[in-house]
Amino acid sequence: MNHPTSKLVVDDLRLGHWSSRTEAFSLACDGLSFEIAENEFVAVVGPSGCGKTTFLTALAGLVPVTSGRLELNGTQISGPAPDRSLVFQQASLFPWATVTANIEFGLKAQQRLDAKGRARVAELVELVGLAGKERVYPRELSGGMSQRVNLARALATDPDLLLLDEPFSALDAQTREVMQEELTRIWQADVAGQGKTAVFVTHDVPEAVFLADRVAVFSSGPAHLVEVVDIDLPRPRDAAVKRSPGFQELNDYILGLVMSQTQPGRRAASDRGSNTPVVG
Ligand SMILES: Nc1ncnc2c1ncn2[C@@H]1O[C@H](COP(=O)(O)OP(=O)(O)OP(=O)(O)O)[C@@H](O)[C@H]1O
Ligand SMILES: [Mg+2]
Repeated sequence: MNHPTSKLVVDDLRLGHWSSRTEAFSLACDGLSFEIAENEFVAVVGPSGCGKTTFLTALAGLVPVTSGRLELNGTQISGPAPDRSLVFQQASLFPWATVTANIEFGLKAQQRLDAKGRARVAELVELVGLAGKERVYPRELSGGMSQRVNLARALATDPDLLLLDEPFSALDAQTREVMQEELTRIWQADVAGQGKTAVFVTHDVPEAVFLADRVAVFSSGPAHLVEVVDIDLPRPRDAAVKRSPGFQELNDYILGLVMSQTQPGRRAASDRGSNTPVVG
């Protein structure tokens, strides 16, 4: 079903990988269907190896669609394009370039590094908390700082769709919490530009609940959608929301859904009758 306000339509999507070693095709996503609205922040959780990264890289246009629809703004995604930015687990910075030059990279590649572009980069350096580090090289940065640069670089081009694959999972627990708050702050500060639609893959259910407007739970692989859970926690959010009963309830519920996929036969932790029924 195609909703007129949907920015992203995923409909009966199948994705997979061809292995030249085994000369076999293996499915990573099978019959995946859901939709994402403009300006929505959707987190994706699911068992390890279920197909989350494959899905995200297909959104980036790096994995071809086997069958089904994967449409952004009504057009089938068929390859990479500058309207999408992808942030990986490990910050992949250019070691020979300063913090500023790393953040400028995408704008430069798109020939958009004009006065406006430079101003945006300067603004992003401030926003991600790297003021004073502009001329520093990646080898002098901590993991958290590197991931801040990575994030700023992805935001610099003002992408229509921001794709994040476990961007904080390599960080220690404390830095990770700080980064979650920073990302929420950046998102809420309306500086991500006009396009604020994001797909954020994570293993960490509390992280998903804290950041997202909705959480999509993928089945064990090949992935289909188990359920999309509305995160009806008020915004703006800060760390205090994690201590609220509403947060705990959502967290337990989603954890139950994920566990039901990793441990077949196990039921979801609680029955939140108001949620969309299990599909697929
Ligand atoms: N390049 C590839 N070639 C062949 N098979 C692949 C390739 N990349 C992933 N796969 C397979 O596709 C399936 C889904 O992998 P994917 O990386 O998408 O899972 P994931 O949900 O991101 O896992 P994790 O949570 O561990 O990051 C797995 O069975 C994996 O082995
Ligand atoms: Mg992955």
